[in-house]
Amino acid sequence: MALAEVFQGLGTSQTLLTVVSLALGVLAAYLYLGRSLPEGTPPLIKGDWPLIGPTGFWTRRWDFFREAAKASGNFSFHVGNRIVVAVSGDEARRAFVESRHLDASAGYAALFAGAPTVPKAVDTDQEDYNEQHFFRRITAMLKKENFVKGLDALISDTRTRLQDLVNDPKGMTDPFESIYGIVYQLTMRTVACNEIANDRVLLDQTLDMFEKIEAASSAKLIILPWFPFPGKLRRLWYGGKLYMIFKKIIDDRAKTGRKEDDPLQFLIDKGDNVSEILTFILGALYAGQLNSGVNAAWVIVYLANDPYWRGKVWEEVKAMAERYDSDTSKSIAERLASAPLEAWETELPTIDLCLRDSIRLNLVGSMFRQNQSKSPVKVSEGAEIPSGAFAAYPIGDVHLNPEIYANPEKWDPSRYLPDRAEDQKIKFGYLGWGAGRHFCLGMRFAKLEQNIILAFFLAYFDFDKLVDENGKQITEQPPSDLNSYSAVKPKQKIYVKYSVRG
Ligand code: HEM
Ligand SMILES: *[C@@H]1O[C@H](CO)[C@@H](O)[C@H](O)[C@H]1NC(C)=O
Ligand SMILES: *[C@@H]1O[C@H](CO)[C@@H](O)[C@H](O)[C@H]1NC(C)=O
Ligand SMILES: *[C@@H]1O[C@H](CO)[C@@H](O)[C@H](O)[C@H]1NC(C)=O
Repeated sequence: MALAEVFQGLGTSQTLLTVVSLALGVLAAYLYLGRSLPEGTPPLIKGDWPLIGPTGFWTRRWDFFREAAKASGNFSFHVGNRIVVAVSGDEARRAFVESRHLDASAGYAALFAGAPTVPKAVDTDQEDYNEQHFFRRITAMLKKENFVKGLDALISDTRTRLQDLVNDPKGMTDPFESIYGIVYQLTMRTVACNEIANDRVLLDQTLDMFEKIEAASSAKLIILPWFPFPGKLRRLWYGGKLYMIFKKIIDDRAKTGRKEDDPLQFLIDKGDNVSEILTFILGALYAGQLNSGVNAAWVIVYLANDPYWRGKVWEEVKAMAERYDSDTSKSIAERLASAPLEAWETELPTIDLCLRDSIRLNLVGSMFRQNQSKSPVKVSEGAEIPSGAFAAYPIGDVHLNPEIYANPEKWDPSRYLPDRAEDQKIKFGYLGWGAGRHFCLGMRFAKLEQNIILAFFLAYFDFDKLVDENGKQITEQPPSDLNSYSAVKPKQKIYVKYSVRG
């Protein structure tokens, strides 16, 4: 039954392809599974099918981790021919985020696979790409001085996009389209190039390609990464198209000698070659988009249903606008545009609380690591990840734990206020921006863009209703999909009904 579900998930239209490749893979995996796990590795879970592993990992990830951990504590399973050790509990979480030998990039590359990469067919150099290059460049790009310089552009991008909503007579918007699109434009502005950030058509086209690449990633591609499933071909196709769009821009600048004041120019001036630049830009856009875009939209959805927090945020936004521009003949949105970077970063603490609890609910799935240590090292007792194997920590183990977060499935920013401080109850009690050795490098930018987008949305619009596509009110808070692999847009479309503030 569960296995049938997985086969369905694997795509019935390609059944033949799937069956043939599964048969091949089963053989390989069978040989592999015959090997026993090194001592100290938690035992293999029941229902660990050859090749596919446990079906629940693919069909309902959080339920699977939670039920299996309850039954067997830490446990191991297979994904293709890889061994994954699922760990949970306080001590394991701590080792997971702090261990020097557990590598995050390799973990996600093998087991997550939603990110676009430069297709090999187009770029034969990519194997040489040095991860340190990515971290160095993104750190330089996301420095404070660049935000000071870029603030006006971020504000003007946001206001232009919101003006589209002002002009739209329908007065309702799906924030997972509109707000998500604004986040994409701001991300493009901050880690990529002006040619696209200035061009609404190119923005929409390239965002569509990113989304197609993401949608084409599936269990199959993770289990058999080398097999040319249609999804893999789609990923290559759209990856290739993105590559060509950026390459054309780079070539054009080289040919005409034109310089821009933007992140791409920074990379070109550093002497990076086309292959390095493209790998960087695709990675940075992806890292910057999904969580930021999905959470910005969710916060607006939560606020639409919550007069208390909406009122509090609005008070803060209004106060900030009034503080930096005393001209009462102007609109709050106009006055807001005078606030300096420091104000944007420190004077909207309620938005931060709102975002914090949205991330807790929407950073779902699991964190991955690979043990890249070849030789035994002394680590604290407990679950051992064999050399080359993977570790998975389901984020719900802490974020949805009712002993830490009261009523965990409810969005409630007040849980972080000093009198409750639920996230401080235990060490690494909140993983929303990473912890230990891997902390989000984009947090400062992500918070800044959330603040700008939300503050201007409140400054332009009054909103207190969620509706469906026919304009019928939705009173129940739509739930987040706690079983998905990563932050996702809700399955059912939600619209926010708004009126333009006078
Ligand atoms: C609401 C928005 C965001 C959330 C919730 C978020 C969350 C996270 C988390 C939880 C991690 C650690 C993952 C792990 O340890 O396994 C992380 C890492 C990272 N994030 Fe973010 N992020 C956001 C926005 C951004 C943005 C806008 C950028 C860049 C433009 C970015 C760039 C990165 C990078 C480069 C890393 C890797 C750091 C490392 O491996 O050491 N993130 N993020
Ligand atoms: C680009 O730079 C990388 C790293 O320096 C190098 O490995 C690669 O061969 C270069 N590619 C081209 C086309 O020059
Ligand atoms: C990673 O593998 C090495 C070599 O087998 C082992 O000594 C080490 O304890 C492992 N690390 C973890 C965190 O399990
Ligand atoms: C997993 O292993 C860790 C480390 O030994 C231990 O503290 C934790 O309790 C285990 N988790 C479960 C659910 O048994």
